[in-house]
Amino acid sequence: MILLHDICYLRLGCHDLDEMVRFATGILGLELREKTATHAYLRGDSSAFNLCYIKGDADYDASAFELRHLDQLKAAEQELAEHGVGVHRGSEAECDERCVEAFITFKDPNDNQIELVYRPHQTGVRYFPARDAGITEFGHFGLHSRNIERELQFWTGLLSARVSDRIGDGALLRIDEVHHKIALFPSEKVGIQHVNFQVESVDDVMRSWYFLQEQNVPIVFGPGRHPTSTAMFIYFLGPDRRVYEYSSGVKRITDEAGHVPRQFEMKPSSFCMWGARPNVEEFSE
Ligand SMILES: [Fe+2]
Repeated sequence: MILLHDICYLRLGCHDLDEMVRFATGILGLELREKTATHAYLRGDSSAFNLCYIKGDADYDASAFELRHLDQLKAAEQELAEHGVGVHRGSEAECDERCVEAFITFKDPNDNQIELVYRPHQTGVRYFPARDAGITEFGHFGLHSRNIERELQFWTGLLSARVSDRIGDGALLRIDEVHHKIALFPSEKVGIQHVNFQVESVDDVMRSWYFLQEQNVPIVFGPGRHPTSTAMFIYFLGPDRRVYEYSSGVKRITDEAGHVPRQFEMKPSSFCMWGARPNVEEFSE
């Protein structure tokens, strides 16, 4: 079993790097930490980066998880290979590009590009946002899944994710006490489905709701409250057509042994207990 310690970063391809930097700083409220001709590193906490936009193939994305120990990384490399998963170990230059000491990369059964990293860099300098959206941390992300049961077997059998709740066939997975850090969305697509940053309170969610409307940013769902995680949320579209989310108040599952995943029906009320309905087409971009 490969023990995932935490989510670490996302690498997101884009056509227009400057446009994504403008959105990530001026709208999303991240700090631009470093920018080259091809890469922009942005963060919502004191780590080296949470999101790295990469100029080029806009369909490219990868999501990374931290492992605690180097021997776990070596064991993961072996375990994945034994399960027939092609694994690439990062070169020194590739590690530098990701601000980590070591990493391996592979595809999950849905062809989502996953990276397992060791010793991701911290900066020692506090996060200073370009816009005060109230961000407290990089919260979670959604992954498309063309075959949920196959993907669940991978994420909860070979990797250490656990199912917290299910909505229809979709699954919300935790890797620590936080209700979910990965959301698997049934879909015909591959890659990252949405990107979440936690904000301090419902006031920040609501402030952003007005702000996003003023800035003509398409809102795709919310404001609302998830009955699964209890988090209050708002989802909106970036210029890269990816879905971004702020949320606050996510539940923690402290009784690990006693937790029984609940099965929610596939209805709007399972996504929002206040009555908001997702703009289904854009939400599943
Ligand atoms: Fe979410």
